[in-house]
Amino acid sequence: MDFFDVVDTRRSVRKYNSTPVPKEVLVKSLEAALLAPNSSNMQPWEFFCVTNADKKAELAAACLSQPSAKTAAALVVAVARRDRWRQVQGQVLEAFERNGVTDPQVLSYYKKLVPLVYSHGPLGVFGLVKKLVVTFQGFFKPVPRGPFSNRAVEMTVVKTTALACQNFMNAVSALGYDSCPMEGFDEVRVKKALAIKGQARVVMVISCGKKDPEGIYGPRMRMPKEQFLHFID
Ligand SMILES: Cc1cc2nc3c(=O)[nH]c(=O)nc-3n(C[C@H](O)[C@H](O)[C@H](O)COP(=O)(O)O)c2cc1C
Repeated sequence: MDFFDVVDTRRSVRKYNSTPVPKEVLVKSLEAALLAPNSSNMQPWEFFCVTNADKKAELAAACLSQPSAKTAAALVVAVARRDRWRQVQGQVLEAFERNGVTDPQVLSYYKKLVPLVYSHGPLGVFGLVKKLVVTFQGFFKPVPRGPFSNRAVEMTVVKTTALACQNFMNAVSALGYDSCPMEGFDEVRVKKALAIKGQARVVMVISCGKKDPEGIYGPRMRMPKEQFLHFID
């Protein structure tokens, strides 16, 4: 499908028929998710693709028994991790070494700036120092106003992971299947069902399947575009 057809036809589906989603469709769509733009290329996401009937039922209950979750052929749980940047930072630096990347600015970005952005020290103390220094500098020049806390880093990784979710859903649509993003879930239970540990946030649970004729609740509704679009020519 043409990109704009995908965007136009993708709808949030709340009821699916019993058609399974082929593994290839899920894999291809998840691979598309991994190609999403992401902050500093730290790829702070994980996706759990659940088709096992028992696990799906457990997750559907954790999704507050929403019909979209209960009738889905697959449930994809998108997780944002602020605790994995060191691993990817190391992999990026190794790849640079292998590929002969020697640009001091690029190396310094990954060796110095990335740790500066992602770590805030015990009890966030380093984040406070960073905030004071940067706020002072900000009187004289443009400065990045954060992140100064683990919470703010969480926002960065959640943003990035949400972009991957959109890639995933667009890919599912392009391949002729349907989806629905859900944030109506019990995060504690979702994490428990998948044994997710560490500083992980469940960003969305995405149901997938083939839509039932009653699966779309109404015509698509968007407010007047003038309300949201601002052109500064
Ligand atoms: C972050 C996020 C969370 C959502 N959570 C739910 C949800 O828990 N249950 C649900 O039925 N739909 C959920 N939706 C779907 C929205 O209701 C839907 O995208 C919106 O009404 C627009 O409809 P459309 O996707 O068909 O264009 C969610 C969408 C997003 C982006």
